[in-house]
Amino acid sequence: MRGLKGKNVLVTGASSGIGKAIAVRFAAEGAHVAVNYHKGEEEAANTIAEMHTASAAAGIAPGSLKDMTIQANVAKAEEVSAMFEQAIATFGGLDILVNNAGMQIQGASHEIPLDQFDQMIDINMKGAYLCARQAITHFLAHGGGVIVNDSSVHELIPRPQYVGYTMSKGGLRAMTRTLALEYARDNIRINSFAPGATLTPINPWKDDPQRKADIESHIPMGRSGTPEEMAAVAAFLASDDAAYITGQTLFIDGGLTLFPSFRTPWTG
Ligand code: BGC
Repeated sequence: MRGLKGKNVLVTGASSGIGKAIAVRFAAEGAHVAVNYHKGEEEAANTIAEMHTASAAAGIAPGSLKDMTIQANVAKAEEVSAMFEQAIATFGGLDILVNNAGMQIQGASHEIPLDQFDQMIDINMKGAYLCARQAITHFLAHGGGVIVNDSSVHELIPRPQYVGYTMSKGGLRAMTRTLALEYARDNIRINSFAPGATLTPINPWKDDPQRKADIESHIPMGRSGTPEEMAAVAAFLASDDAAYITGQTLFIDGGLTLFPSFRTPWTG
């Protein structure tokens, strides 16, 4: 994709799942990638190893791309600012932020422990905002940049038993649109991609053939998505091919957001 070669990228929550696939995809596009993780130090090192394999397969000379792992909890303002300092100092700048870090906990909406509710809001929504404000501060001083947020189909469609999660993703949608409008004249673009059911560790049902088949029967295309399919759209939104797109959410869901409302409520 156009304009990703040589760019400096920070991907939050890149030790597993969609974040990992995004880091690998950016490396294959010739970008320098900082891999943020919270707890999975070893997994983050694996992401770097897969980035090396992918960039080599794309014909990029070994050692010509910079990369690093950075430990930080995106919900903590001091850790986020230290992470940006480290990434910017090591790479000599930052062009692209991918707000990917996220989590979800299921539970009846009137009963879910408040600390669990807080965690979803703090990581998925406030964490994305803390990173965005650091990135924007840097972008304003350096001629612009791009932010891509990993949202969810649940920024739009309800999801019983996940009230904290849906609220966090609805907030992410509001953030994307507000920041996109506010910084449109500053050469800063902000967009989201919204995965549907995706084969990553956040969905343990992926390893249970019966539950997987049941969930996939509610998806118009009849299958889950792959992390690589999500990463392709994240790369597109960050690239110059998307130069005239801002404030949007691109749904990558096999048609999930189209399903008729008379079907079983979506809890997958
Ligand atoms: C959730 C997944 C779910 C998907 C579709 C995502 O945002 O993280 O657990 O499968 O939405 O409901």
